[in-house]
Amino acid sequence: MTDSPSDLLSALDRGESLPASFYTDPSIVEQEMLRIFRKSWNYVGPAAELAQTGDYVTGHAGNVPVVVVRNDKELAGFVNVCRHRRHQVMKGRGNARLMQCGYHAWTYDLAGGLRRAPRAEAEPDFRLDDFPLLPIRAEAVGPLVFVNLDPEAPAANDCYGPVLDLIAKSGIDLATLTLHSRSEWQGRANWKAMLENYLECYHCAVAHPGFSAAIDVRPDVYTLASHGWFSSQAGRVRPAALEGKSKVELYDVRGEVAESQYHFLWPNLTININPGFPNLSVDVWLPDGPNATRGFSEQFFGPGVDEGFAQALIAFNKQVAQEDDDLTDSVQHGLVGGLPDRGQFLTKSEQLVIQFQKMIVRALDGQSPV
Ligand SMILES: [Fe+2]
Repeated sequence: MTDSPSDLLSALDRGESLPASFYTDPSIVEQEMLRIFRKSWNYVGPAAELAQTGDYVTGHAGNVPVVVVRNDKELAGFVNVCRHRRHQVMKGRGNARLMQCGYHAWTYDLAGGLRRAPRAEAEPDFRLDDFPLLPIRAEAVGPLVFVNLDPEAPAANDCYGPVLDLIAKSGIDLATLTLHSRSEWQGRANWKAMLENYLECYHCAVAHPGFSAAIDVRPDVYTLASHGWFSSQAGRVRPAALEGKSKVELYDVRGEVAESQYHFLWPNLTININPGFPNLSVDVWLPDGPNATRGFSEQFFGPGVDEGFAQALIAFNKQVAQEDDDLTDSVQHGLVGGLPDRGQFLTKSEQLVIQFQKMIVRALDGQSPV
């Protein structure tokens, strides 16, 4: 028995969650790849790493390898897969004059045109012009660069532009942040279960003693707001934390940033700002089959932020992430069993999770998620 999209949306209005199979069924992941990740803006990396001609950043739009390169005209995005035998052309990040595939040395220029294919001159009807890298959209929103495989999708700035204004209000000047470090990670739960955990702080007081000592997580103070393509949570630093009177050991939260912000940009980018000196971190969450997630984090800091603060904040974020992983690992075990089939949300504390699940339902049905 399967519920129709309108049944699922009505159930969500009553606070009834998506069925457990949405988190365990491999066919759902296949549909998500096609209907969500191929139609949405996928974050690939910071604009600062794409500032000079030849700078390139590789990434994924769902399961499609992508590359964004700065050529002499623009920021250009391509499917990072050779037209020859479908080997990935570029690896990691860096600067290159040409994009050369490491398999048979097919070589593309920075506009994606195939310039050279060894031995191709011996083929009677082979034309280099017929095999450019497949172009995709690449757009920057402030300092963040995204790609989209859907030519019809709304512009990235139309979806996410307003989040820049909210971030500016935290006391951070995005233009001055620099990338400090990047790491890759793996999770043992469905990507949606991990993001749904991100989208509420009902669990914070229970499961995050350090976080809750730094940030006031009481429901009348900690705010949740949906903005369509993105949603935002915000909390104030606790006075006791500022005075160094927390009961748990904390990093030094004193600094110009007094408001923490946690933004979710559909479908799978999260942006964190914590109290203290100017800082921002991002995470990308990608399905790795139904029962696992893979992602990467990037940590940015403002000018003059010392390494001690950077390391202490990174450790704080790791601790919170470990606590969250323990929660979502357990949730995934519950989902795999399939009973109970539905969870029950609290509609006044978990409205962003409900909103997210509605976006999933609409997108899987071929509708606009917003
Ligand atoms: Fe959490």
